[in-house]
Amino acid sequence: MNGVSMSTMQLLVVAILLQCCFIPTFQHPLDPLTPSEINQVNLIIQNSHLGSAISSLTFHFVDLEEPEKVDVLKWLSSNEHNGSFPHRRAKVVVRARGETHELIVDLATGSIISDHVYNGHGFPPFTSKEFVQASIISQMHPEFKESILRRQLNLSEITCLPLTIGWFGELVTKRVLRVFCFYRGGTTNIFARPIEGISILVDVESNQVIKYTDRFKAPLPRADGTDFRSSGQEPNLGPSNGTKTGFTIKGHEVRWANWAFHVAFNARAGLIISTASIFDAGNKKWRRVLYRGHVSETFIPYMDPTSEWYFRTFMDAGEFGLGNSAYSLMPLIDCPGNAAYMDGYLAGADGQAQQVARVICIFERYSGDVAWRHTEVGVPGQLLKSGKTEVSLVVRMVATVGNYDYILDWEFKQSGSIKVGVSLTGVLEVEATWYAHNGPKTEDVYGTFVADNTIAIHHDHFLTYYLDLDIDGTNNSFVRSKLKTARAVGIEPSTPRKSYWTVVREAVESEAKARTRLGLEPAELLIVNPNKMTKLGNQVGYGLITGQPVTSLLSDDDYPQIRAAYTKYQLWVTPYDRLERWAGGFYADRSHGDDDLAVWCQRNRPIANKDIVLWYTVGFHHVPTQEDFPVMPTLSGGFELRPSNFFERNPLIKQ
Ligand code: MN
Ligand code: CU
Repeated sequence: MNGVSMSTMQLLVVAILLQCCFIPTFQHPLDPLTPSEINQVNLIIQNSHLGSAISSLTFHFVDLEEPEKVDVLKWLSSNEHNGSFPHRRAKVVVRARGETHELIVDLATGSIISDHVYNGHGFPPFTSKEFVQASIISQMHPEFKESILRRQLNLSEITCLPLTIGWFGELVTKRVLRVFCFYRGGTTNIFARPIEGISILVDVESNQVIKYTDRFKAPLPRADGTDFRSSGQEPNLGPSNGTKTGFTIKGHEVRWANWAFHVAFNARAGLIISTASIFDAGNKKWRRVLYRGHVSETFIPYMDPTSEWYFRTFMDAGEFGLGNSAYSLMPLIDCPGNAAYMDGYLAGADGQAQQVARVICIFERYSGDVAWRHTEVGVPGQLLKSGKTEVSLVVRMVATVGNYDYILDWEFKQSGSIKVGVSLTGVLEVEATWYAHNGPKTEDVYGTFVADNTIAIHHDHFLTYYLDLDIDGTNNSFVRSKLKTARAVGIEPSTPRKSYWTVVREAVESEAKARTRLGLEPAELLIVNPNKMTKLGNQVGYGLITGQPVTSLLSDDDYPQIRAAYTKYQLWVTPYDRLERWAGGFYADRSHGDDDLAVWCQRNRPIANKDIVLWYTVGFHHVPTQEDFPVMPTLSGGFELRPSNFFERNPLIKQ
C-alpha cells in the first residue's frame, strides 16, 4: 500500500466517523429542518387523518416555516442569543387523494396546527420519484417499444426524461409530465442524441401514459464527438488541502473577516443567505445589511414554437426545486482545496429525511485581484506605493436541472460588497434535424447547428433573486438616481464648458413606480436607510450594481410570458410580506400567472421608509455556439450589492 492510498483510506475512515456521529441540531431560528425534524414531521402527518390515505400520500414540499421576522430579530439582538427562541414549525405540502394539502406542523407540540386544501391554479413541485416513474412507465409503454424497434434502436440504450409542460390557456385538471427520450448508444452525453418525434404524456398520479405520439421527425444525431468526460478519470491534483482558512462555521453561522451571516439549504431555493451583518471598525458596531437572499424563481423559455418544443418554458425553482437538483460537490473541481463543506437535508416523496452530503462549499478566494492600490509620485524625492490584495469569502452551490448546471455563488468582500454570481454550464438542449448543416434553406431552424443534424435551440435564462436588504434596520427606502445632462450656461460667466452631468435623486414612493427596466439611461439604484446619515450628511445605503440589462422578449400575450410577467423588468421593489417569497408563485407547475410578483405589485403599496424587498433578475439571452457542444464552457453573470455611504470611509483602510 503506498502513501497516497494510505492517506485516502484514513480520510475515508474520518469521513465515515464524522458522518455517523455528527447529528445536526438547530441553533438559529432560520436553521433548516434537521433530519430528525423532517422525520418527526413525517411521523406526525402519517399518524394524522391524512395517514389513512397512505397509498396516495406524497410529500412535495417540507421546509422550515419561517418564524416572524420580528421574533428572529429580537432573538438575534438578545444578549448571547439567550432571548426566547422563536417557534419551530414546518410548512408541508402533500398530495393525498388527489388534493393538495398545505400544512403547518408545530415541532414543539408535535401537532398539525393548520391544514388547508389548495384549490387555486398550479401544482406543487414534482417529487424525484415522480420523475423516475414517468420515465420508467414511458419506456415500458408498448407503442414506445414499437417506435424504438421501427427505428432499429436498442431499448436498453434509452434514457427518458420527463419535462414540465407549462400552461397554454387550457383547462388544467391533471398533474402531467411530457416525456422525451434520448439514445445513449456509444455516448454518455444523452442530450446530444434526442429521438425526435416521440412525445409521451404521463399522468403522474394514475401512473399512466395518457397520450402517445410519434411523428418520426428526424434521424438520430451521431454519437462520436459528443463525449465530454474528464480524460482518464484521473484524480485532479489541485492545490494542497493545507491552506489555512480564516473563517469559522458554527452550525449554520459563518464568521469571516468583518462578516457574520447564516447559510441554509432548502429544496426549492437551494442556498439561502440570511441575517448578514458587517462589523464597522470605525464605530465598533455590527451593522445589518441583508436579512435574506436567495434565488426565488428561474424562467427558461426555449424559442422553438413547434409541437415538440413550444411548451419548454421551465420554471426550475418552482417545478423541480434548485435544492432538489443539487448534488454533492466535487472537491478540487467545484470548490478549491481550502473549502469547507456543509451537508443538506431534504424530504423524499415518502417524507423521510435524505442527506445530500457536501451540498454547499465555503472558501476563501485569493483571486490575484487588487482590493485597492495607489502609486504616489507627487511627494518630492519619493515613489510611494501601497495597496492590498483581494481576499474574499465565497459560498457556493451547484444545481443540475436536467441538462443545465447552475453554479450559484455568494461572495463576501471585506469592502462590504456582496457579489452574487451565476455561471451556466452543462449540456445544451438540442434538436435533431434532417438538415446536415447550416445552409440557404434552413430558415425554419430555431437555433444554431452545433453538430451534424443537430441544432441547439435559442433560449433565455432568467434567475430572479429575492433580496430582503435591511440596511442598518428594517425601515429602508428605494432611491433611483438618474444622471442628467445639464447645461453649463449661466453658472459662471467665464466657463467655456457647455454641459456637465448631475445626479437627480428620486425616492420612490410606491411599488408600481419602483419597477425598473434598465437600458441606456444611466441610473444609480440605491437602498437607503432614510433615518440614518453619515457624519457628513449622506444617507446610509447600499447600491445595486446590475449585470447585463436583459428582459424577456416574448410578447405580453404569450402564455409563458403571462406566467412569468415579472421578467419584463429587471428590478421590482415590494414591501416585506412573509408570504411573498416565490416570484413565479408558490404553485409554479402549470401556473396561470395569477399569484406572482407582477400581480402582487398591482396593489401599488407604499414602499418608502418601510421594510422592503428587492427582486432582481439576472438574465441571459442564449444564442448557442459550436463551442457550447458537447459541453458548454461556463458563461457568467451576476450583480453586486455595494456599500454606498454606508461607511464613513474605505473600510479596508485602518480605522
Ligand atoms: Mn428589508
Ligand atoms: Cu443556455
